[in-house]
Amino acid sequence: MTNVFLGIDVGTQGLKGVVIDETGSVLATETAEYPTATPKPGWSEQSPEDWRRALDRVLAALVEGRPDFTFRGVGLTGQMHTTVVCDDQGRPLRSAILWSDQRTAPYVDAIQETYGLDTLLGITGNQPLTNFTLLRLLWMRDHQPELYRDIRRVAVAKDWLRFILTGSWGSDVTDASGTYALDVRRRTWAKDWLEQLNIPAAWWGSVAESHEIVGTVHYGPAGLQGVPLVAGAGDQEASAVGTGLGPGDLGLSLGTSGVLFWVLTQYQLPPHPSIHAFCHAETGQWHWMSVTQAAALSLRWFRDQLDPGATYQAINEEAATVEAGSDGLLYWPYLNGERAPILRPEARGGFLGLTLTHRRAHLARAVLEGVAYSLKHSFVIMNETGGVNPRRWVMTGGGAKSALWGDIVASVFNPPGELAPDPGAAVGAAWLARNAVLNQSDRYPLTVHAVATPRLEWLATYEDGFAGYLKGIEQMIPLWERTKA
Ligand code: XUL
Repeated sequence: MTNVFLGIDVGTQGLKGVVIDETGSVLATETAEYPTATPKPGWSEQSPEDWRRALDRVLAALVEGRPDFTFRGVGLTGQMHTTVVCDDQGRPLRSAILWSDQRTAPYVDAIQETYGLDTLLGITGNQPLTNFTLLRLLWMRDHQPELYRDIRRVAVAKDWLRFILTGSWGSDVTDASGTYALDVRRRTWAKDWLEQLNIPAAWWGSVAESHEIVGTVHYGPAGLQGVPLVAGAGDQEASAVGTGLGPGDLGLSLGTSGVLFWVLTQYQLPPHPSIHAFCHAETGQWHWMSVTQAAALSLRWFRDQLDPGATYQAINEEAATVEAGSDGLLYWPYLNGERAPILRPEARGGFLGLTLTHRRAHLARAVLEGVAYSLKHSFVIMNETGGVNPRRWVMTGGGAKSALWGDIVASVFNPPGELAPDPGAAVGAAWLARNAVLNQSDRYPLTVHAVATPRLEWLATYEDGFAGYLKGIEQMIPLWERTKA
């Protein structure tokens, strides 16, 4: 029998379960997918019951199917901000509104006008965003008043599964940071703020540190009964735990979205409204985070629309046939509007500089370069007030499998970066459970598989390209404003 820990990630595409041993080695993985509905443009919803069915399938494979495992702890993680509203029995009253859903755009401006950005920053540490849970409640109050009257509990995605698994209701400080209902500095619910909005603080339940044990499992296969469950963390913080990021490391994730993650040992307001200041999954730590919405998603779009059926490796090989700078072709990755650094849901992506000599390979390379520019733009904004001086850059995510993309990012930023396999948020969640149960505070052992090195011959081209990229944004803003109006 092997002592093991289970991490569960309620992701956007599907639910993933990962089993690790005490050293962090992954022994088993199982995934079950579910659909996302888009009832209107900009809206995204999932059914919590689909999550539960996916959980059942994953537990059947990883627990029932593996009598050789002795489960010692469970940790949860998942899509942040995704909102489930329930009655007093924890039964969902409607489908969950996803983190990426944009329906609350008018509320962003409205609450800023009513309360003022400085006051809001003082309470929550963050500028309001369409993604945040609380804004969805305000939307429901106006658009589904009857349903709103029946709400007795609110949960972020993973916390609803925590209720299913243990019967305990509440969140952890990282996911609570993304609700817009947390006093991020004090790591407690912002009760006065909720009172001002006339939203009962009791709906959210308790708030715990990520490694705190908040219940024991009473659901699913026999092998899980009575196993302690930790509060866990949002997928970004759990990924940082699973990457072993510590103070002084800058995490750069080339996932669907592109994320910069900077650990703070004391609370500091973010230097720009597009940067989030959230609690980290380690007690006494916070982090700044920037999210460019379409990083690897840009490459997926490229593949699906311009090179269907191609592997990412083939696209990278094709892109590598083109010189740095893509012969003057620039790409802006705002396929999904943009969060950091320009904070414009109405932004649109684009290529600029096309000539008859450009081939598909140029477009592919321009996409890789444009995403790198967007991340650099976020970094410049994050470091506006100084102090973000990474001693180590760790690149993860599907995109970090590409040596070319790694070298492009390293050359645009110009320090070398370590390329690390992304063990994924579920491993981070399992690691939180492992540390809690074994009463340890070790960092997850990260394995670096390569180092991305700035290429001297590319540096000047990328400096010039980045300047052009920034100028282009200024030119496009009036176009986006027009669409918005
Ligand atoms: C973080 C964010 C996404 C979601 C979905 O702020 O919106 O990373 O957590 O993965």
